[in-house]
Amino acid sequence: MKYLIGLDVGTSAVKALLVTSEGNVVGSYTVEYPFFSPQPGWIEQNPEDMWKASADAVRGVLTKYSVSGEDVAGLGLSGQMHSSVFLDEQYKVIRPAILWNDVRTTAQCRFIESTVGSDVLKEEVCNPALEGFTLPKVVWLKQNEPENYAKLRWLVLPKDYVRFRLTGEIAMEVSDAAGMLMMNVRQRVWSNPILEKLDISPEILPPIIGSSEVGGRVTAEAAEATGLKPGTPIVGGGADNACGAVGSGVVIAGRGMVSLGTSGVILAHLTEPRLITEGTVHMFNSCVPGEFYMMGVTLSAGLSLSWLRSRLGLEEVPYDVMTKAADPVPPGSRGLVFLPYLTGERTPHGDGNARASFVGLSATHDQGDMIRAVMEGVAFAFCDSVELLRKAGWNGTSLRALGGGARSPLWKKIIASATGLALDEINIDEGPALGAAILAGVGTGVFGSVREASDSIIKVVRSVEPDQEWRKVYTELYQVYRALYPALKPSFDRLVTFA
Ligand code: XUL
Repeated sequence: MKYLIGLDVGTSAVKALLVTSEGNVVGSYTVEYPFFSPQPGWIEQNPEDMWKASADAVRGVLTKYSVSGEDVAGLGLSGQMHSSVFLDEQYKVIRPAILWNDVRTTAQCRFIESTVGSDVLKEEVCNPALEGFTLPKVVWLKQNEPENYAKLRWLVLPKDYVRFRLTGEIAMEVSDAAGMLMMNVRQRVWSNPILEKLDISPEILPPIIGSSEVGGRVTAEAAEATGLKPGTPIVGGGADNACGAVGSGVVIAGRGMVSLGTSGVILAHLTEPRLITEGTVHMFNSCVPGEFYMMGVTLSAGLSLSWLRSRLGLEEVPYDVMTKAADPVPPGSRGLVFLPYLTGERTPHGDGNARASFVGLSATHDQGDMIRAVMEGVAFAFCDSVELLRKAGWNGTSLRALGGGARSPLWKKIIASATGLALDEINIDEGPALGAAILAGVGTGVFGSVREASDSIIKVVRSVEPDQEWRKVYTELYQVYRALYPALKPSFDRLVTFA
């Protein structure tokens, strides 16, 4: 029996998923690692931790299921998007990685817009300058840590750093390269006009490889660390959201996905690129060769609930037990609204200064109300993204649900009722790691094509429909939610100066 591995290098953990060459999931092994917030709005991580956790996760899954490295046909990589790993001439890490949810780069975004021009940005990279993307982080390094910038020889993303540690090859897979704001998304080449205007050397950017292309083979040293056989093919893989789409069958125009991980994502597959001139919707390359997707990203989805759990002192309480307290609470949480901007917001506001708020809190509110308000606030953030995707031409009626938060029946019903879309449950909910394993299969000739493999392995098994009574409440409450950000914006801008 031959196996495939999908390795997802996430924000708080690495997950190694073992799949048979028939596409059946054997099981997974997860290794956690920390991220740090050295200043408000800053979020960093040590690339060495990413590598150690990756090696341990691969070894862990092989050991757990008694599979020999000899029987692994290939491994595909997936990872958190946009997060910068800065390497020097000797391939050593220069400073901690700056993550996708770090919002220190507001000034650099404005600098990029004024230096490059918003029109050139849209034309070249098809996306606006937003704090989480990689280019603003490079400009930040140049302006704030010139001694580190002087050492910069290679810029890679987390999964491509793990690829380097596995294979010794520096390469950047295309769906992740798209999220750097340095690649011409339509032509799949690094954007010289942007790099020239910002005086950034194109030499720091690795060669771009395809999602189902073999981008190197396991070295003897990496074989020692992981239990894989030397020479095992490592396939391009994809950005975690692009891999999530493959791992949920969102590979056909019109299909959409909602992902409830640390961040929250609404994504729609596109066969053609679409220039979205308004707002903060992203348009990137899909792992289906030559195709694309658009998405809206709310930064603190699952993070909002995990934040509340820890602040209520409920760390030891499993989420399904914790959210039971929200079950009997009526929709609208008895007049309590939560804005989920714990780490600023990407879609729709593109605002690093935005902060989370409970509005309407009264002495009668209890834990259950607060938990439900958090779940509803995230659902309203999804409504914002759905509305923007609709404006950009998406006309789907359902979303395939994935991510840890999608295990909650209550959260799914809230999101379905708030957005008015059915939430489809799929037969295998393994998220980006499954997409990465499918890509490994395509890259090593086990499967025919990305679309065919993804569409035949993943099926919708059940749908959660909107509750019409809840929908009435949410339609009204969403108007209240929408009015809060503009009303609070001047206060957010002042409050950050006290942080
Ligand atoms: C997408 C984004 C997040 C990360 C999470 O643009 O920043 O969804 O990919 O890992």
